[in-house]
Amino acid sequence: MPATLIVGTQWGDEGKAKVIDYLAKETDIVVRYQGGANAGHTVKVGNDKYIFRLIPSGILYPRTICVLGGGMVIDPDALFDEINEIESKGIEARGRLRIADNAHLLMPYHKEIDIRSEEASGAYKIGTTKRGIGACYSDKVNRHGIRVGMLYSDAFYTDILPRLIEEKNKILEKVYSAPPVVFTDLKEKLLALREKIRDMVVNTPYYLNMELASGKRVLLEGAQGTMLDLDFGTYPYVTSSNPTTGGALSGSGISFRYLKSVIGITKAYSTRVGEGPYPTECHGEEGEVLRKAGNEFGSVTGRPRRCGWFDTEVVRHAARINGLSALALTKLDVLDTFKTIKVATGYELDGKRIDYFPSCRVPQLQVIYEEFAGWQEPTSHITKWKALPKNARKYVEAVSRFCGVPVAWVSVGPDRENTIALH
Ligand code: GDP
Ligand code: IMO
Ligand code: MG
Repeated sequence: MPATLIVGTQWGDEGKAKVIDYLAKETDIVVRYQGGANAGHTVKVGNDKYIFRLIPSGILYPRTICVLGGGMVIDPDALFDEINEIESKGIEARGRLRIADNAHLLMPYHKEIDIRSEEASGAYKIGTTKRGIGACYSDKVNRHGIRVGMLYSDAFYTDILPRLIEEKNKILEKVYSAPPVVFTDLKEKLLALREKIRDMVVNTPYYLNMELASGKRVLLEGAQGTMLDLDFGTYPYVTSSNPTTGGALSGSGISFRYLKSVIGITKAYSTRVGEGPYPTECHGEEGEVLRKAGNEFGSVTGRPRRCGWFDTEVVRHAARINGLSALALTKLDVLDTFKTIKVATGYELDGKRIDYFPSCRVPQLQVIYEEFAGWQEPTSHITKWKALPKNARKYVEAVSRFCGVPVAWVSVGPDRENTIALH
């Protein structure tokens, strides 16, 4: 059975969770492969709304197994808050969660460093979610991290942890004038954690490839989006992991041979949270209207999202990097009231047309727009492609043509039912 990958094509919050929830009905296992509690993945079912941070968005289906992959940075406090919240709503989660033994643990000191480093950066801050993500991935890359599997080795507590804490305390105290980590407190916390998660820990390359070989259907859930990718996004205003296809493989351990379909989730306009260049951002009234119509406020931090027009160069960039086989175009209904809708069709740099998203000098781009007539009627109740207003269909077809990827689903509202399958 092949695996399907869901990846964000813009700056995150494209509606990935809504599409994952829609597709998870036909899935046995959902795997989050990167990021941490910086993600806010919203699923709406009837009157209930769930915002997942670490737990994969397939958890609402009672038989689905949900895996926290090895590419993730897991804050145990955030994880258990989330488990308790879900279970308080009558959804059993613990028995269906699996945690990769090579995932990294995000500790309170990572959050402390993230917050203080942002404060110290002044005008150069990234605008992070303050969840400790960059600090935890830095430790991973620097080989000072704590893997889940390390909790089960006694030598970790005697040989490794004291050295890690000693080094961390130098940074906390000398660079940030922050309180030090108390070794015995952290050791106790980790010893308690290892018992709480003992039955969930798996070796994901073994487990997932075996399940795929036996015919199980796997959905890979990306967090953030291509433009926040550490390597392909608007560096340094990015997250510290790879949400793109390469990250899905390294963050889950499944063989590339199983990956048959990559679905790009893309909003019918665009948004971004935090700092960093954003070529099609609308600063005035239009931005306000989009923010209000799309209810564009961060699901984790509540921060107002920056809003702007659809940028086809961004999605072409995402199509190239990820090898997109189809697009799911979300939040089309948010454009229902607009008389005209702008779409960025390309860029100029130094007065010359360029056919790619540059890796640097993004603020110097000149954006070329095309205008489309709006449809000015509600679409949220519509469930069939043919029933969409003609101008809405024209808009979707133009998006598909410009991006060079077929649109397979159109989403016209936050609920599972507000989804139109095109084929
Ligand atoms: P994610 O991080 O990509 O999963 O997206 P978020 O959950 O952060 O943000 C998407 C928001 O849009 C959530 O509040 C969803 O409930 C909502 N949403 C998703 N699809 C649609 C849609 O088609 N129309 C509208 N109006 N809202 C949607
Ligand atoms: P989902 O999965 C939107 C942004 C932050 C900041 C940058 C770095 O819900 O789409 P970090 O805390 O990761 O070090 O912050 O990345 N960011 C997101 N923006 N959606 C997200 O996740 C995001 N996760 C991180 O706002 O600009
Ligand atoms: Mg989100």
